[in-house]
Amino acid sequence: MYKRQDLVLVNTCSFLRDSLHELDLVLAELAELKNSGSCGNLLVTGCVTKRGLEEFQRCYPEVDAWIPLKDFAALERYLELPGSGKTERKAITHSYYRYLRISDGCSNHCSYCAIPSIRGEMQSVPIPELVEEAERLAAGLHGLGSVGGGSVIDTGKGVAVTLKNGGKANDHLNLLVMTEMQTPHIVIPTTSGTGSEVTNIAVLTSHGAGRKLFIADKFITPNAAIHDPRFTTSLPRRMTVATAMDAMTHAVEAMSGIMSNRICDAQALQAIRLIAGNLPVVANNPHDEEARLNLQIAASLAGWAFTVAQVGLAHAMAHTLGTLYHLPHGEACGIVLPKVMRYNVDHAATALSEISQALGVNTAGMSKREAALAAADAIETLMQKVGHPTRLRDVGVKEEGLDIAAFHAIADTAAIFNARPVNDPGDIAALYKEAY
Ligand SMILES: [Fe+2]
Repeated sequence: MYKRQDLVLVNTCSFLRDSLHELDLVLAELAELKNSGSCGNLLVTGCVTKRGLEEFQRCYPEVDAWIPLKDFAALERYLELPGSGKTERKAITHSYYRYLRISDGCSNHCSYCAIPSIRGEMQSVPIPELVEEAERLAAGLHGLGSVGGGSVIDTGKGVAVTLKNGGKANDHLNLLVMTEMQTPHIVIPTTSGTGSEVTNIAVLTSHGAGRKLFIADKFITPNAAIHDPRFTTSLPRRMTVATAMDAMTHAVEAMSGIMSNRICDAQALQAIRLIAGNLPVVANNPHDEEARLNLQIAASLAGWAFTVAQVGLAHAMAHTLGTLYHLPHGEACGIVLPKVMRYNVDHAATALSEISQALGVNTAGMSKREAALAAADAIETLMQKVGHPTRLRDVGVKEEGLDIAAFHAIADTAAIFNARPVNDPGDIAALYKEAY
């Protein structure tokens, strides 16, 4: 199933440190790959106690190197070591490298940096030029690691598909047509929103179509994802808030859409509780690792929920705003979400009233409809509390483009799954104008 893998990067974070069984499973699987010859170099970065490190080394002699967390100088030294695979190609995708303190020169000469954000931070959704550049850099690799936000991870997914099948990522835009595992892909998210670390979807931009399109397939789900809140503590406040609102929108739409089910509801409700409880904490104190970790977990929970239950009209509208106005995805989601919730109220009153409670609203004495509407109000209150924009006019959207945007949004796949059937672009245009 696996081919030889050039590099496996595992982070032994505090979350896993407290859950040794899970770490054990991850390392055991990787060690098995190594022993079977299907994996080249095993590299573990992490922050463990001295005793813990000795124990891991005793149990996993196959691991080539143990790198202290965020010690990228040590990482680079490892990558330069004779026999460590210097002559082999290695891939780490990353954005925010200046936050992660990978050396500045890395993007210019580093052979293992296959998917750098060399033109600054990656865009909200990977554009074809960047994905193609990544594909060129990654040619011949048998494994990928992605350290970054959703766009980086989605780029990694696209590259994993092209490494396996050839062509370009946009040649593989499709739904559920793959029949086998793609190139092994391990991810370390540096944002808490997309959920891409656990989802089966890669969102890519199509210039030809003028919109965001997808590769959706269970075989592009990353093989492993490592949460470490310390990789998100330096994420700027605006991106922290926006990405959290992306996760919030995933959870709300998964729970209120036509594909909802009670298992995904449970994931979505817990995600909503965690975001509502922890986003204000992180907004005030970006170094609160426990709250950061809770946001990471919320993003993954919401990602799992919408992988099955899908998203809805807020995402259809946000995808369009992202393509036309390059608005950060989470910001676009957050601004339109309360409007869409009110639009859906008579088609998802039960779900929205439960969401209201998860957001901390005291619904005692309210009718179900009132409680559902209170959920939209609570989302707006939360956004105001954490400094999230609430109007499209404040984020560079042009009012005269909203009618055209509505025609794009109604054709977006996500609109199909919305709680209330969307048949009239005029409805969407009205929602855009309400959000303007
Ligand atoms: Fe999203």
